[in-house]
Amino acid sequence: MTPLEPAILTIFGITGDLAQRKLLPALYHLAHDKLLPESFKIVGVSRRGTTVKDVLKLIEESVHSNGSSCDEVTLSWLEQALSIVDMDITKPDEYALLKREIDAIEDSLGVCLNRLFYLAIPSALFGAVVERLGSKDLNTGCQHGVAESRLLIEKPFGYDLESAQSLVKSLRGSFTEEQIYRIDHYLAKETVQNILTFRFENPLFSQSWDKDHISHIMITAAESIGIEGRVAFYEQMGALRDLIQSHLLQILALVTMDKPTEMEADAIHRAKEELLSSLVPPADDKMESETIRGQYETYKKEVSSSHSKTETYAAIKLTADNPKWHGVPMYIRTGKSLKEKVTEVTVVFKDADTPECTNYLTIRIQPNEGIVLNLRIKKPGFESKIENVQMDFCYSEKLGVSHPDAYERVLVDVLRGDKTLFATSNEVLACWRITEPILRAWQTDRQPLHIYKNATWGPEVSDKLLAEVSGEWLTEVLHVCSVHVTNVKGASDDNR
Ligand code: BG6
Repeated sequence: MTPLEPAILTIFGITGDLAQRKLLPALYHLAHDKLLPESFKIVGVSRRGTTVKDVLKLIEESVHSNGSSCDEVTLSWLEQALSIVDMDITKPDEYALLKREIDAIEDSLGVCLNRLFYLAIPSALFGAVVERLGSKDLNTGCQHGVAESRLLIEKPFGYDLESAQSLVKSLRGSFTEEQIYRIDHYLAKETVQNILTFRFENPLFSQSWDKDHISHIMITAAESIGIEGRVAFYEQMGALRDLIQSHLLQILALVTMDKPTEMEADAIHRAKEELLSSLVPPADDKMESETIRGQYETYKKEVSSSHSKTETYAAIKLTADNPKWHGVPMYIRTGKSLKEKVTEVTVVFKDADTPECTNYLTIRIQPNEGIVLNLRIKKPGFESKIENVQMDFCYSEKLGVSHPDAYERVLVDVLRGDKTLFATSNEVLACWRITEPILRAWQTDRQPLHIYKNATWGPEVSDKLLAEVSGEWLTEVLHVCSVHVTNVKGASDDNR
């Protein structure tokens, strides 16, 4: 990796949930692997009298909870890099404290540092914090020369189309689009990054990746965990907003977008934006049959609201209004408290003359990362029988492969100013345009909320979504990079 420019990372919400679970362990591992710039400082913003020692303790705890241990050398490196500004981020005057700290660090080093501001705080506060950063000129470089100021924000980017539009507008009041890094941590997962390479570097697939060869596409993001105490957040969000509007539409875009003119950030974003703007949600009169919402059995009790209609499961069908994908159904589903944690994309190939004859390709995003191709072969023996077999590529079996955690990748990319894996405002707004009609339909009582048992695969009715392609969600029976398929429909012996 080329050396990274010196930087100062200010984390708003350094003791919060996101920082503890993702950011701090990612920083620890990057520091441990010596992947951070030589001149690198971290400023934690907190108003609870937090000390550097407290943050170090949080780092140790979060690294331990992920099954690793911390070494003293890395911890003392982080200790010298870290300082805390105790301030109330809702009070404009207190931003002078932050500015003083950042200026003092740059003065003591005598160099300019790129100023990175990570807002690991509720999105309702983004607008106000950003405006105050701007009013203290923290949106520009430092006094020792030229450096950049970059803003990192986490989803949710708004609550619906209108709020997303006003968020875009309010952030632009202080930071340019170029300076804003909208994190979608799924885009930083190694297996997601591989989608474009796999599609465009293998002529076998790049030439058959369209409506003439593909019957349908299925994306599943199942989680075995529930909402883990995030009651207020989840009650406002629900599964459609939380996973589909962001992560899963981004994945669908990578799976279906045209080849970018160049494999670099602007061209990739242009191709992605074009695809997203062609995606069509179900028409009003199809909402009931082409979207499904569910809630796990114990949810209402968990959120102490017997009236809650928040969906913890969502499955939808989309189509694309473009010549390449016309008529190809694209199914997306996600849910909490399901049987297993698994995220994957399955592309089902068709043969127009013999519709029963299919191949499918599964990109397993997590866990057991890999790619599986289901093929039909002659069953060895005297008889002329056909059987289905799997060809697997498993990351775990590829020697020497260890991929960075998504948040490590996010931090490295923002340090080097590479925006490829961050969502643009146009992408975010296009994703809201797709989900908005579904959200509106779900607000009415016409759409049933299916209650499903915890630790199952969600409402049984979601299988009906695939009836028109005579398909099934393969996730339930397909074991990628672990146990092999036993009973997938069409994968058993065929007596012809
Ligand atoms: C987050 C959602 O964006 O992604 C969470 O808000 C979800 O509800 C999480 O659990 C899933 O991320 P991962 O990387 O564990 O699949």
